[in-house]
Amino acid sequence: MVAARSLSRFQGDPLNILFATSECAPWVKTGGLGDVSAALPQALAGLGHDVRVLMPAYGALADLKAQARDWTPWPADAGWPAARLGRVTRPGQFDLWLLDCPALFADAGGPYQDTAGRDHAHNARRFAFLARVAAHIAAGAVPAIAKVWRADVLHCNDWPTALAPAWLRVTDAASRVPSVVTIHNLAYQGLFPMGVADALALPPSWATVEGAEFWGQLSYLKAGLVHADAITTVSPTYAREIRTEAFGCGLDGLLRAREAHLSGILNGIDAAQWDPSTDTLIAARYDADGWRAGKLANRRALRQAMGLPGQRRGLLFGVVSRLASQKGIDLIVDSLPWLIANDCQLAVLGSGDAVLQQRLQAAAAAHPAHVAVRIGFDETLAHLIEAGADAFLMPSRYEPCGLNQMYSQRYGTPPVVHGTGGLADSVDDFVAAGPDAATGFVMPEATVPALQAAMAQALLVAKQPAVWEALCRRGMARDFGWDASARAYVALYEGLIAKR
Ligand code: ADP
Ligand code: GLC
Repeated sequence: MVAARSLSRFQGDPLNILFATSECAPWVKTGGLGDVSAALPQALAGLGHDVRVLMPAYGALADLKAQARDWTPWPADAGWPAARLGRVTRPGQFDLWLLDCPALFADAGGPYQDTAGRDHAHNARRFAFLARVAAHIAAGAVPAIAKVWRADVLHCNDWPTALAPAWLRVTDAASRVPSVVTIHNLAYQGLFPMGVADALALPPSWATVEGAEFWGQLSYLKAGLVHADAITTVSPTYAREIRTEAFGCGLDGLLRAREAHLSGILNGIDAAQWDPSTDTLIAARYDADGWRAGKLANRRALRQAMGLPGQRRGLLFGVVSRLASQKGIDLIVDSLPWLIANDCQLAVLGSGDAVLQQRLQAAAAAHPAHVAVRIGFDETLAHLIEAGADAFLMPSRYEPCGLNQMYSQRYGTPPVVHGTGGLADSVDDFVAAGPDAATGFVMPEATVPALQAAMAQALLVAKQPAVWEALCRRGMARDFGWDASARAYVALYEGLIAKR
C-alpha cells in the first residue's frame, strides 16, 4: 500500500517520520544522543506515527545487520560509493533502516573513533554520505522506497546528520518535506578542513559564509542550522543560552538570526529502562514506599562492587559521566579534600579525558576508604550507582539536557547540579523551591565553592531523616516520561507541514 504523503494528509493523521542519527541505543551509544534516538522514536511510534530510524550499519553491528530484510540497493553515483539499505521491522515499535556501506562504515571501534580513540580518518565523507542518503529518502528520490513509503518530515540530530537539510535543497529543490535539526550539544560541530568541500565535490555554495563556512573550516552543524526549517534543542533553558556569546560556541549570531525557528523541548527518559521497581541490574528493587530498604540494600551492594567500606558519617555521592570539561569533573576532583574532611564517599564511573581519568585514579589510590573509580562504560554499574548512592553529582559547566539527573531523581537519589540548561529545567532546588517542593540541590555557578556549598547543604538536609526522605520520594514521583515532549515534537512537525 502506498503511504499518504504530506500534501494529502489531515492534521492529526499519523505521520511518516524519517529520523536520521549516528547513534541509537542499545545498539550504538556514546552518550545521551543514543538514548534519545531510541526513546523519542519509540514515544512517537507509541503515539501512532510511522517512524523510521536511519543509522549506519557500523562494523560492530553484524548481529543487527543479520536481522535486516527488504534490502534496497543504493547504486554508486556522483563519486559516492554503492551501498544498500536494510530494514529491521519491530512490530509496535519504530523500524530501523540500516545503511550498509562497507567502504565507509565497516571500521572497528565506535561511530566516530577507532579503537585507539582517534577520529576515523574519513568521518567527513562518512557523515556527508549518511546525510545525503537521508535527504534522498526524504525527498522521495529513491523510487524503490518512494513507491512504498514517503516521509512527511525529516528529523536530524547533531552534526553527523546535519548536512541533510542542505542536501535536501540540492537534491530536490522543489521538495516540500520539512526538516528539523536537533542540537544535542552545540560544542560538537563537525568541523573539517575546507579542502573537504572540494574533495567530496560538495556544492560550492556550502563553502561560503552563507553556507557552512565557519572561520575557514567547513561546519556540518552550521549547514543544518542554516537550512533546517526548524531548529530544536533538548531543553528550553539551553535554547535561550545558546543565543548568548557565553554558550553559543561561535554560532550564537546565527542562532539569534534564526530564533523565530528555534525552540527547546526537554528530553524525557526511557521510563521502562530506568525504573527502580523493575530494574534487574540493581541489587534490590524498590518503589517510593520501599525507598529506605531499597536504598540500604543497593548502597551496600554498590560499596561492595566498588570496594568502599561502610559506616561513614557523611553521604555517598555517585557520578556517571563522560569525563570531559563540560561535565565539571575537575570541580569534583578539586573538592575531594572537603569530601574527605566531611567523611563523605565518592563513587565514579566514567571514561574520556586522560588527565581527568588519571587524577581520579590517583585520588582513589590515595584515599581508598573515600574514593572509588571505575574507568569504562558499564551499563550495570551505572544503574547500581543511581540506586545505591545517597546523592548524585552533576556540576556541568553547560548541559543541553542531561539524563542522569532525571534517572537519579527517579531512583530516590537527589542530584546536586549546576543550574544550567536541562539541569535547571529538571531539578528543583532545596532553597529556591523550598523543602516542600524541592527534588535536589542547584548550584548558581559551576565553581568549587558553589559545589562545596551545595554538597554541604545536602549533608545538612540529610541530618533530618524525614526531610531527606520526603525529598527523595518527591523526586521518585516526578514524571520524566517522553509523552509530553513527543507530543511537542508532533505539534512542531504538524506546524511545519501546514506551512508548506
Ligand atoms: P551526555 O550525552 O552529554 O554524555 P547525558 O546525561 O545526556 O550526557 O547522557 C549520558 C548517558 O550515557 C546516560 O544514559 C548515562 O547513564 C550514560 N553514561 C555515561 N557514561 C557512562 C559510563 N561510563 N557507563 C555507563 N553509562 C554511561
Ligand atoms: C548531549 C548533551 C546532553 C543531552 C544529550 C541528549 O550529549 O550533552 O546534555 O542530554 O545530548 O540530548
